[in-house]
Amino acid sequence: MKIRVLDASPVQVVADWLVVTVFEKAPLPAPTQLVDASLGGTIAALIARGDITGKLAESIELLQVTGIAATRVCVVGLGEAATLTKSRLDRALMTVARKLSTRAVASVAVALPAAPLAGLDEESVASVVANAMTVGCVGQGLYKAEPDRFRFDEVSLLVSPAAVADAERGVQTGLIVGESTNLTRELVNRHPGELYPETFAQRAVAEAQRLGLACEVLDEDRILAEKMGSLHGVARGSVRPPRVVLLRYEGAGAGQPWLGLVGKGVTFDSGGLSLKPSDSMKTMKCDMAGAATALGAVLAIARLKLKVNVLMAAGLVENMPSGSAFMLGEILTARNGMTIEIMNTDAEGRLVLADVLSYVVDQGVDKLIDLATLTGACVVALGEEVTGVFPNHSEWGDQLLAAAREAGEDAWPMPMFDSFSEQLKCDTADMKNIGTRWGGAITAAKFLEKFVGGKPWVHLDIAGPAFMESSKAHRDGGATGAMVRTLVEVAKRFA
Ligand code: BES
Ligand code: MN
Ligand code: ZN
Repeated sequence: MKIRVLDASPVQVVADWLVVTVFEKAPLPAPTQLVDASLGGTIAALIARGDITGKLAESIELLQVTGIAATRVCVVGLGEAATLTKSRLDRALMTVARKLSTRAVASVAVALPAAPLAGLDEESVASVVANAMTVGCVGQGLYKAEPDRFRFDEVSLLVSPAAVADAERGVQTGLIVGESTNLTRELVNRHPGELYPETFAQRAVAEAQRLGLACEVLDEDRILAEKMGSLHGVARGSVRPPRVVLLRYEGAGAGQPWLGLVGKGVTFDSGGLSLKPSDSMKTMKCDMAGAATALGAVLAIARLKLKVNVLMAAGLVENMPSGSAFMLGEILTARNGMTIEIMNTDAEGRLVLADVLSYVVDQGVDKLIDLATLTGACVVALGEEVTGVFPNHSEWGDQLLAAAREAGEDAWPMPMFDSFSEQLKCDTADMKNIGTRWGGAITAAKFLEKFVGGKPWVHLDIAGPAFMESSKAHRDGGATGAMVRTLVEVAKRFA
C-alpha cells in the first residue's frame, strides 16, 4: 500500500472514497465545509435531520455524489472536539478503514481538520492516519478462498502546503509501525500446524535479511549447550524442536546501552500433561504473541532507523503432552543454575522466559522488557483490553507507562510485593513454578524477576489484549498487535 501526502483541495482530489469528518454539536470543519458546499449542502442537511450526529466513529457513506472529483464520500464522526484524544481519533479512523476495505477499492483520500487536532501536531495526526489505514484494511481471514478485506492501493492525506513536510514524516512512521503491527498479527493469526518454532525462526531470519540485520537462531543442540534446561523441559513433549531467535539492531553504535526485548513464543499451548480443557485450548495458537510483538517492534525500530541498540530474543517452543513430556514433580535446572520443581506444566511461559531472560542479561543488555501471554489471572485482574505492567525498577516502569500513554495503548501497573515470591518457595528445589490461585499474574512476574540479574526490567502480560475472540467495528478479531506501538515509543525515548 502507498500513502502519500497531497496539498490538494478535497473537492478536486480524484479518489474512490473521500473521508471527511464532523464533530458532535459543532460547525463543520473547514475541509468538510468545502466539500459540503460542492455537494449542495447534503452533509449539513443530513446533520439537520439527525442522520449524521458526529458521534465518535459513526461513519455515514454517501455512495453517489456529484460536484466533487471523488466518487464516494464517507463522513466520520469525531465526537465532541474537547474529548478527542489520540486513541479516539485512531478508533474513528480504524472504523472507517475497516468499513471501506470490505470491498476492493483503489484509492482513499482523507481530509481532516487542520492540526492541532486532539492536541496533536501535523506529524502525529499523519502517523495516526497512516497507521489506521494500514492496519484497518487487513483482517484475520488468512485462509479464506474469498478475501473478506482488501488493502487499499493508495491512500492520500490532504494537508495544507505548510504541513506537507511534517505530514510526510508522520505518514512514514505510521506506515512502518502499521506494517509491523500487521506482521505481528499475521504471525499470531497463522495456525499452529503452519507456524511452529522452526517456521517462526525461518520467518524471522527472512524479515531480518530484508533489512540487513543480524539474526541468529539457536537450534536444539545449541539450546542444550547453553544450559537452557528450563526452556528445553517445556519443549520436550513435542515432536517439533525448540528454537531461540536472536535479532540485533545496532542503531546507536558500539559502546551505547542495549535494550533487550524478550518474547514468549509458545507456538501452541496445550497445557502439557496439565492439559487444558478444549475451551481454554482453542485459542492457544496466540501463545507466541509476545515473541511476534517483540519481532514486529524491532523490525519497525530498525526501519525507522532509531538511534538505539536493541537485542530481540524469542523463546520458541510447543507445549505438548506425550511420553517424553516434562512431568509434575520433575525438577528442571535453568540456565542460571536455579532448580525449579514443576507443579503444573501449564505454567510453561515463565519456564521458557526464564532461560531467555538469563541469556539476554548474559549478552550484556542494560535494560529489558519482556512480553508474554503469561496468565489468565492478568485477564481476570485487568480485563481483556489492558496490558499488565510489572516492573522491578520504578523509573523504568514509569517510562514504559508513559510510552504506552503516548502510543495510545492501555497499560496498567501491578504491584510487585515480595510476599508474592514466598508462594514460590519449595522444599525440594530453589522454587516451584506456580503459587496459589490468588494473584497469579504477580506470582508469575515474581518468578521471572529471579532471572533478570537485577537489571532494570518490565514484564508485560498481554494475555488479554494480544488476541480477541470477536471483531468490533474498530478492530478485527484475532491478533491485535497490541504493544508494538508502545515498544517503538519506548525505543524512541531510549535513544
Ligand atoms: N498461555 C497461558 C495464559 C493465557 C491464558 C494466555 C488466556 C492467553 C489467554 C499460560 O501458559 C497458562 O496456561 N497460564 C496458567 C497458569 C497457571 C497454571 C498457574 C493460567 O493462566 O491458568
Ligand atoms: Mn500454559
Ligand atoms: Zn502459555
